[in-house]
Amino acid sequence: AAPLRIGLIGFGCVGQGVYDILQRLPGLVAEVRRIAVKDPTKPRSLPVSAFSFDANELLHDPELDVLVEAIDDAPEAFRLVSAALGQGRKVVTANKAMVAQHLPELLALQHEFGGTLLYEAAVCGSIPIIRTLDSYFGHEPLRSVSGIFNGSSNYVLTRMGDDGSEYGAALAQAQAQGFAETDPTLDMAAFDPRSKAVILAAHAYGVALRPEQILNLGIESISATDIAYAALSGQKIKVVAGLYLLPDNQLTVLVTPQFVSRTSPLYTVDDEFNGVVIDAEFAGTQFLRGRGAGGHPTGSAVLADVAALRGNYRYAYAKLAAPQLAYTTDLEIEIY
Ligand code: HSE
Repeated sequence: AAPLRIGLIGFGCVGQGVYDILQRLPGLVAEVRRIAVKDPTKPRSLPVSAFSFDANELLHDPELDVLVEAIDDAPEAFRLVSAALGQGRKVVTANKAMVAQHLPELLALQHEFGGTLLYEAAVCGSIPIIRTLDSYFGHEPLRSVSGIFNGSSNYVLTRMGDDGSEYGAALAQAQAQGFAETDPTLDMAAFDPRSKAVILAAHAYGVALRPEQILNLGIESISATDIAYAALSGQKIKVVAGLYLLPDNQLTVLVTPQFVSRTSPLYTVDDEFNGVVIDAEFAGTQFLRGRGAGGHPTGSAVLADVAALRGNYRYAYAKLAAPQLAYTTDLEIEIY
């Protein structure tokens, strides 16, 4: 089959990752036909003639098969993605904050106009966690989905523990390597993994949570002494996001620093890596571990979605006869 023609919106860490992978694998899955960026004056690795400076042009270009949205600005990303879905287009995004804030609206647009939105890269970078949860959807009750969903804060905790780095120096290293958000508070205060927990709640339990319903505590007040104290008893401090289905069907979701002991698979998840443990009623326990941030790992997840679109893949909840993700006011849920 002919390669899919991609319109790439955004050329930051993720956009360049996608572009670079496709340069190394020409013609395999897709090719980047157009790239839109906002600022014409910013120095970039490609000549200025390679870019368009109006993303709206890409939305209306009939020569593009897939739009890949990889910009930082969540409200602008929602405007672009919802406009594209309103035209029934195929869209891939890596924007977790945008998806977490608008899942029910995005699903309704797909249903009404027949387009498709995929966002594997939005959660846990390279780990195919959404597709894995989708393989359980509708038949396998999940007792819990828990893990480390933020690479930057995990990187900082690892540096503080292993090398005795100061918090600020470790954060600067995470930023220099392209793991951190433009506003690092999103990583360090656990807003970023909270968005990811919202997205996984939809795929694990078929519910739409509002991000504000989830308690998030970050690592800003954790000191090297705290980490050393944990190590004395053979433990590490990690920011763990947990979705736990309690026996009375109450779903509890929270993101907080926790002590993690050697017996947990999450103990092995260091640096910018992410890890997810799925505890399923019949399948048992699964553990996935992989790079949670960075241009190539995240770009790889974007391209997994692009490849899936060739086969008209849609998410399990989007394939239901009357796809609906309702906002819950409390966290009590029905198991479908
Ligand atoms: N800032 C995010 C992280 C990038 O550190 O995990 C990947 O979503």
